[in-house]
Amino acid sequence: MTNKLKSVEVFIEFVAAFRCPHCEGSLKVADLKSLKCSNNHTFDFAKQGYVNLMTHPSSSHFNNKLFEARQKIIMESNLYASLHEKISKVIKEHMGVSIFPFLILDAGCGEGSHLQRILDKCMNGIMTGVGLDISKEGIVMAAKKYKDPIWLVGDLAKSPLEDQSFHVILNIFSPSNYKEFKRILVPNGLVIKVVPRSNYLKELREALFDDFEKKVYKNDDTVSLFKKHFYLSDVINLCFTKKLNKAELENLVQMSPLAWTSDQAHIDAFVNRGSSEITIDLDILIGLNK
Ligand SMILES: C[S@@+](CC[C@H](N)C(=O)[O-])C[C@H]1O[C@@H](n2cnc3c(N)ncnc32)[C@H](O)[C@@H]1O
Ligand SMILES: [Zn+2]
Repeated sequence: MTNKLKSVEVFIEFVAAFRCPHCEGSLKVADLKSLKCSNNHTFDFAKQGYVNLMTHPSSSHFNNKLFEARQKIIMESNLYASLHEKISKVIKEHMGVSIFPFLILDAGCGEGSHLQRILDKCMNGIMTGVGLDISKEGIVMAAKKYKDPIWLVGDLAKSPLEDQSFHVILNIFSPSNYKEFKRILVPNGLVIKVVPRSNYLKELREALFDDFEKKVYKNDDTVSLFKKHFYLSDVINLCFTKKLNKAELENLVQMSPLAWTSDQAHIDAFVNRGSSEITIDLDILIGLNK
């Protein structure tokens, strides 16, 4: 079966969870090739199996090179394995046995590897993952590589998702829109937001920026904004280091927006170390929809 037909089949099952981004009307699968609302706004399934539900063309700094590097760091270097472990444990604990369908949204999913890994770790056939990102390049890459989730090009601030239709929202290193998150979550649904702490990738930041100061970065503002919208049930701090080799250091540079504002000499010096311990220092905010 082609990617496109497989995606059409999954959409037929879950179409009630989506809505038209223009008029907010419900959508139907039409002629096994597109999604259509009652006002005839039409969105075609792409051959790779995703649907573009943007109302206007979007541009993003995030490009193929960055997404390819993120994919390698996540899937081959396994730098975020313990993050995926922690998140899937939280999801499994939260999940009621009788809930069907159980939909997980990754809002700002990029090239989709975090969502795929978390679904793999949950090892549960009844969960369906939906990855949404404003970057078409990210979604095309996700749809080509990972066949089971639903992949959408869309804006998380004006999402093509129906009210109260998702049980879990993942939001990993991506912008948030809490009003939208609350709208689309079921009552008592879960938001899992991953934010960096002060030592996150500190070796990279120290190497790329002369004026890097080890100031204590606080995410208090992020946490208090989060708490205004959700009941903060837990904050999990994840801090560890992992040794990366030269090829992996190159990917680390490529995957990070930090390299956009650094010069080539600093980047080369960092990669030419040959290997380095890299620090991951994150907070995982767990919120319940009040
Ligand atoms: C730092 S990347 C993180 C991507 C992915 N979660 C990861 O960790 O690899 C931030 C992502 O947010 C996406 N993004 C930014 N604004 C967005 C919006 N309004 N709606 C959907 N996605 C958005 C970007 O396209 C990008 O893929
Ligand atoms: Zn419409």
